[in-house]
Amino acid sequence: EPSILPVAERTLVLVKPDGVRRGLSGEILRRVEAKGYTLRAVRLMDATPELLAAHYAEHEGKPFYQPLVDFMLSGPVLAVVAEGNNVIAGFRSLAGATDPTVAAPGTIRGDLGRDWGLKVVQNLVHGSDSTESAAREIGLWFPELV
Ligand code: TYD
Ligand code: MG
Repeated sequence: EPSILPVAERTLVLVKPDGVRRGLSGEILRRVEAKGYTLRAVRLMDATPELLAAHYAEHEGKPFYQPLVDFMLSGPVLAVVAEGNNVIAGFRSLAGATDPTVAAPGTIRGDLGRDWGLKVVQNLVHGSDSTESAAREIGLWFPELV
């Protein structure tokens, strides 16, 4: 739940391999900064099966799980820690709905994403969905920050 009270937060943003491949990293970071959030850490890196198993543990066993892991291993990922009041909900709002076909225009997924007819939705970005997820995910991708 977003709060109108000041709540300093950090969230984990990932520009997924499709975003990096398509040259959209700058556009996506631009939107995060234009919204007013602070980039606290940014790293271009290759994910590993172990990191992704932990990151996507909640989705293990779902039909899109293995395609999702394979997709996330298909190229480098830009991992970002963004900071600001209510940035967890705020970035999810910037990102838009999971399915880029129905994500609202004005959002990252709605403006820049589409359905490519694959087993996994390639939707350009990840954003933590709760304070608990953010803390866990930042610890996985940026252990040196914790
Ligand atoms: P999820 O955490 O539900 O979405 P979000 O990224 O919006 O938090 O799912 C993780 C990723 O798994 C999602 O970004 C794309 C992929 N996915 C599919 O390919 N098919 C699906 O039906 C769902 C729910 C997700
Ligand atoms: Mg999610």
